[in-house]
Amino acid sequence: MLSMSKANIPWGTMNSTRSMGFNTRAVKMGEFRDTRYGNVTTPIFENSTFLGPNPDSNPFLDSTNGKPFLYTRWGNPTLQSLEEKHAALEGAERSLSFSSGMSAISAAVLAVSRKGSRILSISELYGQTYIFFKNTLERLGIRAEMIPLDSMNEIDSIPDGVSAVYTESVVNPTMGVSDLSRIAKACRESGVPLIVDATFCSPYNQRPLEFGASIVVHSATKYISGHSDVIFGLAAASEKFYHGLVDMRKTFGFVPDPIQAFIAARGMKTLGLRMKQHNQNAMELARLLSEDRMVKTVHYPGLSQFRYHEIASRVLTGFGGMLAFELNGGEPAARKFMRSLKIPEVAPSLGGVESLITLPVDTTHASLSSEERKSIGISDGLVRFSAGIEDTQDLVEDFKEALSALR
Ligand SMILES: Cc1ncc(COP(=O)(O)O)c(C=O)c1O
Repeated sequence: MLSMSKANIPWGTMNSTRSMGFNTRAVKMGEFRDTRYGNVTTPIFENSTFLGPNPDSNPFLDSTNGKPFLYTRWGNPTLQSLEEKHAALEGAERSLSFSSGMSAISAAVLAVSRKGSRILSISELYGQTYIFFKNTLERLGIRAEMIPLDSMNEIDSIPDGVSAVYTESVVNPTMGVSDLSRIAKACRESGVPLIVDATFCSPYNQRPLEFGASIVVHSATKYISGHSDVIFGLAAASEKFYHGLVDMRKTFGFVPDPIQAFIAARGMKTLGLRMKQHNQNAMELARLLSEDRMVKTVHYPGLSQFRYHEIASRVLTGFGGMLAFELNGGEPAARKFMRSLKIPEVAPSLGGVESLITLPVDTTHASLSSEERKSIGISDGLVRFSAGIEDTQDLVEDFKEALSALR
């Protein structure tokens, strides 16, 4: 644990505690404590700047550059505390926080790219990542080649000239699962960095670096912060890739505010407890839906009949809180079902303590044409559900009543 005591315990002293359980690490790691104050939780260092040169003989150091803290766009103790906690959960040497998931993604991709680079990616990307790859990167002379998740899952070697591979652990909203062991092996053998967006899993359900990924990125807005109250991003990596991320954050100013970091860190402390309930709630609801004659299909990695279940069983440590389904009556039935539910809120985000339900056609995939949606498996009646942490039985009863209303 890094302490704010007078003795400046350097970063990286946490190896001996890596064997601690997930929840213990989530609570204990990274906290900045100064025995002179006796503070138990890390304070919010709402400072743009710090004394420079620092006159103290043994000042606390900014881990982005190994020098005393000087300016928050470079580094800040509240951010650093959260980054240390995240690295401990991810099994990473380093972590860096960002002002959003998109800035973590942009920094990771730009850090491994040069003019003329070719990135190989799945096509079922989060919408804004797709736009970033297709518009922004193309303008910078970086080409993104997209292949379906199923082709990526069968990859044995990375084509010549590809400078990075990009995938998402579980794709939105159809819940396909990346075979990280196979993709990472191909990348390792070809010496190509692999970037994984593990937002849908959080480090509780998957730690991509353990498979050999080079950088894992998160929209920490979702499960990691967990309360639908902050926009936040994180990227974790080995020392080798960390400094490229630091350069991007410093240059583009993707740095989060220390108050946001405090809120995200508070959420992170209960990530394990929340994920357990998210996983359980989604599993129970997926089972219920899959056994109901009003339901046409259920997309959930935990269901044995789901197409990606075998891969999910190998690469996930929990099947997650997200599921999608189609009702027999299509879009009208989906809208009636959503209106009948009493507990979930109708909203597009995910990963918060409250259950959220949405039709991708209305929200996350509204900008795509009907044909484009169909080509990636999204019918107009597909419902996406983010299971919150409410009591399982309450959600089950709510779903049962809403299904009865369709009969
Ligand atoms: C899988 C995934 N990646 C990245 C993002 C972008 O994150 P943010 O909104 O925090 O920038 C999202 C947002 O919904 C997402 O679902």
